[in-house]
Amino acid sequence: MPETSTTADFSSGIAADRVPAHVAFIMDGNGRWAKARGLNRFEGHLRGVKTVMQVVENSFRFGIKTVTLYAFSTENQTRPAEEVSALMKLLKTFIGEYLPELLKNQIRLRVIGDLSWLPEDAANSVREAVSKTENFSGHTLVVALNYSARDEVLRAVSSYAEAVAAGTLPSGKPDWATFSRYLDTDGISDPDLIVRTSGELRLSNFLLLQAAYSEFYFCDTLWPDFSENDLRKALADYASRERRFGKTGEQIGNKKSV
Ligand code: IPE
Ligand code: IPE
Ligand code: MG
Repeated sequence: MPETSTTADFSSGIAADRVPAHVAFIMDGNGRWAKARGLNRFEGHLRGVKTVMQVVENSFRFGIKTVTLYAFSTENQTRPAEEVSALMKLLKTFIGEYLPELLKNQIRLRVIGDLSWLPEDAANSVREAVSKTENFSGHTLVVALNYSARDEVLRAVSSYAEAVAAGTLPSGKPDWATFSRYLDTDGISDPDLIVRTSGELRLSNFLLLQAAYSEFYFCDTLWPDFSENDLRKALADYASRERRFGKTGEQIGNKKSV
């Protein structure tokens, strides 16, 4: 670490310019956490929510500007009905209890995914929190709800085609900047780092396009156990990476690379 670099606030121990701007978490392992304790899967989800609050707080404290949480995938709809409905109730309760925190700490809430599938009361509480926090700009919390990357792309393609048909967009090959405005993540930077807990080494349909140049960090910790120290480890690992975006090491200024 260069001697001149300043560290991000509150002791992440990492140089401020090495802290990722956007970290996305695939929060996995709630079910296994519960099973290992002889508990119902729901208890794992409940503990997972506690981890959410602690991870979001620590991430912003460490200088991360945007945090994305994969909370419910489109494919999770196929889980047993009791689990799905318990998760939707938990979502509504969480948003209700967390909104005052979002307002107090001036955190903007964004949602990606297809909210139209959600039970109306859950969708409404999410929409209300999104609209009450929309003018905050310092920190953004993005929650992926009923999200899958393939579903997002299909919805984006159809809205794009509608705009072309209506004459508001030119026909012909779109450029990425124009097309990406039709994705759910419009206005949100691509994740610099994607963290997945619980030892699974896959993306499970998460941000497939936005992850084009993301760094990945996988750890065995189950989500309910993911601690401040685990977050520090992920950030330290990220800080040691060299991102090239297709260029050579020399082009990006690393004299050791060829
Ligand atoms: C992640 O934990 C939470 C959601 C997918 C909603 P899981 O529920 O997938 O936990 P495991 O993978 O079964 O342990
Ligand atoms: C991915 O976890 C989705 C979320 C974390 C919300 P899953 O547990 O659903 O993923 P798979 O099925 O193991 O790939
Ligand atoms: Mg899982």
